[in-house]
Amino acid sequence: MYFKTISLENFRNYPDQKLDFHRNLNLILGQNAQGKTNLLESLFIMGLGKSFRTNRDADMIAFGKDFAKAACVVDGERGETGIEVCYQKEGKIIRVNGVKLDRTVDLLENVYIVVFSPEDLKIIKEGPDHRRRFLDRELCQIKPVYYSDLGNYKKVLRQRNVLLRENNPDKNLFSVFDASLADYGIRIVNERKEFTKRLQDISSKIHWDISQGKEFLRISYETKIETKDEFREALERNFESDVYRGFTGTGPHKDDLKIEVNDTDIRTYGSQGQQRTAALSMKLAEIGLIRQETGCSAVLLLDDVMSELDQGRQRYLIEAMKDVQVFLTATEIDEDVKNRLPEGYEFHIENGIAKLLT
Ligand SMILES: Nc1ncnc2c1ncn2[C@@H]1O[C@H](COP(=O)(O)OP(=O)(O)OP(=O)(O)O)[C@@H](O)[C@H]1O
Ligand SMILES: [Mg+2]
Repeated sequence: MYFKTISLENFRNYPDQKLDFHRNLNLILGQNAQGKTNLLESLFIMGLGKSFRTNRDADMIAFGKDFAKAACVVDGERGETGIEVCYQKEGKIIRVNGVKLDRTVDLLENVYIVVFSPEDLKIIKEGPDHRRRFLDRELCQIKPVYYSDLGNYKKVLRQRNVLLRENNPDKNLFSVFDASLADYGIRIVNERKEFTKRLQDISSKIHWDISQGKEFLRISYETKIETKDEFREALERNFESDVYRGFTGTGPHKDDLKIEVNDTDIRTYGSQGQQRTAALSMKLAEIGLIRQETGCSAVLLLDDVMSELDQGRQRYLIEAMKDVQVFLTATEIDEDVKNRLPEGYEFHIENGIAKLLT
């Protein structure tokens, strides 16, 4: 799959922009704060219905304007599709081939996106919420049922937490919440476990290659819940402490990924280089996973990552660019790196105006 064209109106710092893209490489060059990431963000939104930078939809609207619009045509395994996302102060409207969607989940199957940016090192280095968000984002794209299970789980969790914070909450009122939390929760845990196994398979091979056979990457899903009954029992057992703390302390919203290299946890003990290699391996593995699960090729958004990688890792990344559409941003790019990149277009961005270099 690939983005054929895009059109932006009042989107962030783009007043009015139309572009045709190359089906393999699109190199996006420009100084800081000119709109490189904004452009990638607009593509991501048309794939997933929301930004990778913020949950505030209104941020997409250019300062001083009252609406924003991002539209594109994607082409590929499933034919040509027109996607349009319109933002107004009251909210957003998504249309696919002119038809307004009632649910964002129906957008997801049109184009699959993998983003890689320096921020992704947080998946390895920082708290479990980064790893859960990583899992959720990937699973939501490839499994529409996961998307709805997760949405439902979060809704019930919020309601249960509100009830926990009431004065002397009645334990009997919780049985309905606990039952549906356990229902959705165990499905989420099982999907994440399955995904993690496949992620581990693919990413450990990549990591092994990048490290030239020196490092074995192991990724495992860590949870306290193995069955639905276990989850329900834990909710009942921990009722008092949940009331005391005012939130639900057990469940997939507390789970984590363990990431090890040669049997050592790299979150705390890994070198910067090992952590970078692991993050890159996990991201590149997604391309393979998406292909396995959906039969489609993903679009790869690479925001400012080239300069952070050494030559070996750069070579690996360039190799991975071959069979997918890539959007690669940088403030500048070495001539020798440029010469090794696949064929494509080069855009220069200045103050919200992108120009194709001819
Ligand atoms: N809603 C908005 N309306 C107008 N301009 C905006 C809006 N949101 C962000 N911007 C502007 O967009 C610019 C940042 O764009 P972006 O993040 O794409 O930069 P960049 O080219 O990726 O820079 P860097 O190289 O530093 O990452 C900033 O100047 C910011 O003020
Ligand atoms: Mg940027």
